[in-house]
Amino acid sequence: MLRISKLNAGYGSFQALFNIDIEVNFGEAVAVIGPNGAGKTTLMRAVSGLIPVKSGSVDMEGVDLINTPSHDIVKLGIAHVPEHRRLFPRMSVEDNMKMGSFSPQFREKYAERLEFVYNLFPRMKERRNQLAGTMSGGEQQMCAIGRALMSDPKILLMDEPSAGLAPVIVQQVFELIDKIKSDGLTVLIVEQNVKQVLKVVDRAYILEAGSLRMQGSSKKLLGSKEVQKAYLGM
Ligand SMILES: Nc1ncnc2c1ncn2[C@@H]1O[C@H](COP(=O)(O)OP(=O)(O)O)[C@@H](O)[C@H]1O
Ligand SMILES: [Mg+2]
Repeated sequence: MLRISKLNAGYGSFQALFNIDIEVNFGEAVAVIGPNGAGKTTLMRAVSGLIPVKSGSVDMEGVDLINTPSHDIVKLGIAHVPEHRRLFPRMSVEDNMKMGSFSPQFREKYAERLEFVYNLFPRMKERRNQLAGTMSGGEQQMCAIGRALMSDPKILLMDEPSAGLAPVIVQQVFELIDKIKSDGLTVLIVEQNVKQVLKVVDRAYILEAGSLRMQGSSKKLLGSKEVQKAYLGM
């Protein structure tokens, strides 16, 4: 469904990603795991068309994304939950949801999508008139995921959804991801929370200093001595 091949990307003359090959199949949940500064956010930005790519290719169901402007990438069914959530804190939950279906193509389905998101996250329906910035971190993450789902994506990109949240809330965020996955959505998630993310995804890639070091099923990675030592503190 989403295929990243030989991708090189960065900022100006600084190269942050080297020769990345990642594939996500329909219905799969895939993680990219790596420490701070590994290039995880850069990868998400390159897929969403938020930064230019130096070389390589990214394609979604056969459509080349490299030469597609980011607003058209959303229309192809790719939604991005950015790092640090990026909600509009002074807007209500519902107005944030509205921002997720800004283009005419999505506006038509607004009521239907809103119902879908409120069904998935009843808490957001309860809080629909609350200012987004006044909610707890976990609720804000739920709002950011809900906003991304407003565009009825085929694949959801999530950039460190558990970052900065208390342990109990982290657990709830991973339960949300499990729920989204059970709903049939394809998910590509980048995380530092290795133990928990490997419990919800099917496969994962390990990114270090801009290069992929390892990949495999969650089961294989959880059982790998190298992963246990470097990421699971075992
Ligand atoms: N806007 C930017 N301009 C220049 N360098 C950046 C920018 N954003 C990130 N970088 C650099 O790119 C590398 C990868 O960063 P990033 O993708 O944010 O990593 P991660 O999300 O894994 O923590 C880091 O060395 C970081 O300093
Ligand atoms: Mg990041």
